[in-house]
This record gives sequence, C-alpha cells and structure tokens, in this order.
Amino acid sequence: MGYVLSNRRVILGVTGGIAAYKAAELVRSLTKAGAQVQVVLSEAAKAFVTPLTLQALSGHPVRDSLLDPEAEAGMGHIELARWAELILIAPATADCMARLAAGRGDDLLTTLVLATPAPVHIAPAMNQQMWAQASTQANLATLIQRGITVHGPDAGEQACGDVGLGRMRQPEALQSAIEDALAPRLFEGKRVVITAGPTREAIDPVRYLSNHSSGKMGYALACAARDAGARVTLISGPTALAMPEGVTGVSVTSAEDMLHAALGNIECDLFVGCAAVSDYRPRLVAEQKLKKGQQDLSQIELIENPDILAQVASHAQRPKVVIGFAAETHQALAHARDKLSRKQLDAILVNEVGDGQAFGQDDNRLHWCDAQQTLDLGQASKIVLAQKILSTLQEHFPL
Ligand code: CTP
Repeated sequence: MGYVLSNRRVILGVTGGIAAYKAAELVRSLTKAGAQVQVVLSEAAKAFVTPLTLQALSGHPVRDSLLDPEAEAGMGHIELARWAELILIAPATADCMARLAAGRGDDLLTTLVLATPAPVHIAPAMNQQMWAQASTQANLATLIQRGITVHGPDAGEQACGDVGLGRMRQPEALQSAIEDALAPRLFEGKRVVITAGPTREAIDPVRYLSNHSSGKMGYALACAARDAGARVTLISGPTALAMPEGVTGVSVTSAEDMLHAALGNIECDLFVGCAAVSDYRPRLVAEQKLKKGQQDLSQIELIENPDILAQVASHAQRPKVVIGFAAETHQALAHARDKLSRKQLDAILVNEVGDGQAFGQDDNRLHWCDAQQTLDLGQASKIVLAQKILSTLQEHFPL
C-alpha cells in the first residue's frame, strides 16, 4: 500500500512522554512514504525531543505555540487544522487524553483537534498504572465514543521498569494504521442499520420484562461501520451507553417499537440484528400499577413478539445483506445454524452466554457462520470483534 501516503497531509502531534523520541522515526518514515508532515509539539514534549530534529526530518518548521505571531502570519492554526487530512498524536500522554476528553483548547495541539474536520488518531503511551487508572479509562471511552481512533498501547517492559500495558505502538504499526485510515474506506457511502440493546416489555406503568443485554456489541459495530465510511442508523433499546457521534440514533423501548423503526429504515445495504429482543410480551399491559392484594400477580399471560430480523430478511425490500447474532447457552453452533436458515440470514455470529460470558462484558468470543463455513473470530474486545466482523463481511458478502 506504499502509494497511499503520497502527498497526503498529516499533522503529527507529540506530547511529553519518554516515547516522544520515537516520533522522530515516525516522521522519517511518513515523509519517506511521501506524506507531507507538520509536527506540533506540546510544551512538555520539548523536554524529550528537540524541534530542530523534527524540523529537519519533516522539512517543515515545527509548531509549538498557539499564539505565535510569526507562525500565525504564515499558516494560521485554523488553516492548519483544515490543511490536515489526518491528525495523529503519538505519543499521547494521560494528560493529553484528559485534555482532549475535556474539550480543552488552551494550546496549539488541543485547539487543532477541536478545529479540524479530519479524523483524529492517538497512540497512548504512559506508565501501566496511569493507563489502568479509572480516570484514564473513562477518558479513553469518551474519546472513542466521539470518534477518535485509538492505537494501542502495547504491553511490555516500560521505561520506568514496570511491566504492563502502556508502551506506545511501534512507529511502523502506526504508519500502516494511518495508511489504512487514509486508504479508500471499506463501507464508504453504504447505508448500515443496526439493532442493539435489550427491549423492555411493559407489564404495567412501573414493571417490565427484559434481559441483561448492555448494547456494547451493537454500539461497537455502529462505531466500526461509521469509521469504515458507512452512514449508520443505530436502533437501540434502553442502554446506559451514549449514542456514538456521527451515527443516527433511534431510541426504542419495546420489540414492537423496534420492529417499526427497523421497517422504517429497511432501505439499507446491510442490516445487523444485534439486539436481544424479548421473545414475549405480556398480552395485556395494565394501565395502573398492579397491586398484590387486588390482582393475581403469580401468572402473567405472554404472547410472542414479532421476529424483527426474520421480517427484515424476508421483506420485499430486503437489504442486500442481513446478518444476526445468536446468544446460546448450549449447542451454540447447532442452534445458530438453525437460526441462520430459519431466519434466511446471510450470516450469523454466535456467542455463548451464561456464566458471566458476553452479556455486559467488554470482551466476547464469537464464531461466524454462513451457509459455507464456520470461522472462529476469537476472543477479543467487542471493539476489535466489530472490526473483524466488518472485514469478514466484506470478504464474503461484499456490499
Ligand atoms: N431477533 C429479532 N427479533 C426477535 C428475536 C430475535 O430480531 N423477536 C434477532 C436478534 O437480534 C438476533 C437473532 O434474532 O440477531 C437471534 O436472537 P436469539 O435471541 O438468539 O434467537 P431467538 O430467535 O429469540 O431464538 P431463541 O430465543 O429460541 O434462542
């Protein structure tokens, strides 16, 4: 993919951590691949790497100040923010992540991130304890939710002597990630509709039937599809998650609401049924709260909910590709194959649930099943699995 970077405009932000010395190597290899690189240093970065080194390697003056009259007279910071096709911050310290998450704009780099329409990537690097800190992890979640792409950190021995997660991803891996990001995207212009989360089926105004679905897998898929260039509609039951930036959200409560939203959005290239739809709902929904002494609450009569995925897959305006998920506690693959054919799906992703697996967790183990094959997508975070699902999809059912 050597040609991808030719003449592409990249801002490399460097913040103050020991890994800043690797920025020099990164600038060198990016420029060697033909990219135009402008380096922006934070104040602390200058303690680790000199502007002169990075200027010599990039062939451009290094920028480090928001209020530098001379630099502003050349290419002002808003102009610089518009110039960039991609901003990569490597290394990104815990402080840098906190400042980005807070939306600060009190130095050049944070201002550029606020002012750019370009995608922003970060390669965090810090001590493993700082990485594990709840505040850093919360900032990470915020940045991902806002559409910032995060590379690493990797595990290993650290400059401070600790061993663990926190090493900056190697320059060559970052370079290939940037090539991928600047290459034509997999789902550019495609329309993707995803159902996610649980549904709630009202019993009375205060009670409902539901399940443990957190919505994390569906939300991760929505982010991955958005990042791959798709226009994404996420039809979500009630979850604790924030609607990802750049995704059209449709909030629903019951299976019937979800069906209505799905049929209203059937004109799409890919439909993914990721929601844990309640299979049944109470036949009658009491208008007032049911009272123990006054009604017999030991039995609730249930009726079956519509099968959203099956209706979408058999619809006259069937999307080009329809895939689903199967949550199974036993004989997972056999049940999944049955659902694949019964619901007329192109593929189904199978996870084993129960014993604390899958539901609500950040990690998952998935198998991909289609009419031809079963593939083990392995155990990974739901974010990584979402990307694997999309690349497997593109390989076997190109949109
Ligand atoms: N699904 C759906 N509408 C339903 C039930 C399920 O769209 N009423 C979708 C889910 O989003 C998922 C797939 O169908 O993609 C399989 O869901 P699952 O709960 O595993 O299967 P069920 O059809 O409910 O079968 P069972 O509960 O018997 O395992």
